[in-house]
Amino acid sequence: MILELQGISKRFGGLVALKDISLNLDEGQILGLIGPNGAGKTTLLNVISGSLRPDNGYIRYQGKEISKLSSDRRCQKGISRTFQISRPFSKMTVLENVMVAAIFGDRSQKQEPPRDRALSALRFVQFSIDENTLAENLNTVQLKRLDLARALASNPSLLLLDEIAAGLTPLELADLVGVIRHTRERGVTIIVVEHLMRMILRLCDKIVVLHYGEKIAEGTPEEICQDKRVADAYLGENYLL
Ligand SMILES: Nc1ncnc2c1ncn2[C@@H]1O[C@H](COP(=O)(O)OP(=O)(O)O)[C@@H](O)[C@H]1O
Ligand SMILES: [Mg+2]
Repeated sequence: MILELQGISKRFGGLVALKDISLNLDEGQILGLIGPNGAGKTTLLNVISGSLRPDNGYIRYQGKEISKLSSDRRCQKGISRTFQISRPFSKMTVLENVMVAAIFGDRSQKQEPPRDRALSALRFVQFSIDENTLAENLNTVQLKRLDLARALASNPSLLLLDEIAAGLTPLELADLVGVIRHTRERGVTIIVVEHLMRMILRLCDKIVVLHYGEKIAEGTPEEICQDKRVADAYLGENYLL
């Protein structure tokens, strides 16, 4: 087991964003995290990556308790993420942005220069525009792809993806699914937050459904599609067919 969450809760003032969430993730799995807007998906990724401290509960990663580690220590231990709203270094180029991640996060001690590793991450995610473009000149779709390259350049064991498929054409979506599968084949465990059920169902070994901060279901894609509570809370009748 690479990740174990036990009894995680997070409150923002009076709002309970996460309520007693427990889940386990085996190495090499792709977990889909779904639920309506405001369900707590991003908050859960923040708690795992260390940008938010939970009020209760513990997080074990590769067998060790990590709840008290900062997000940069967690990144160096192999937990990388993308952001629902990308925050690149806007005055730096695409390549420089990815190089920062390659220099900071990579624990592999390989001799390959950071520039080469950054370029190979950009190639891997099929980044299609000039790597010398300033990040501030990228559109949302390109920024999400840059974010993915940055996360991969830090050589993660656990990768957290927060809505990176939004705005893609069907062809770009198929490419992205390929990139995520290929990443898993390299041995990376992945949590995917996404609204596109077609993508989630194609990609994930297991799905967890959040609703108002609570885990209301967990199972294989087939089990989730047949779950009455999930249909009522999120999917609607169409997905039962
Ligand atoms: N930093 C914050 N301060 C206050 N409320 C927050 C904060 N972050 C998230 N929330 C609230 O917590 C709930 C869960 O948000 P979020 O995790 O972003 O949901 P999701 O990603 O599933 O759409 C929402 O009601 C949101 O408004
Ligand atoms: Mg979110």
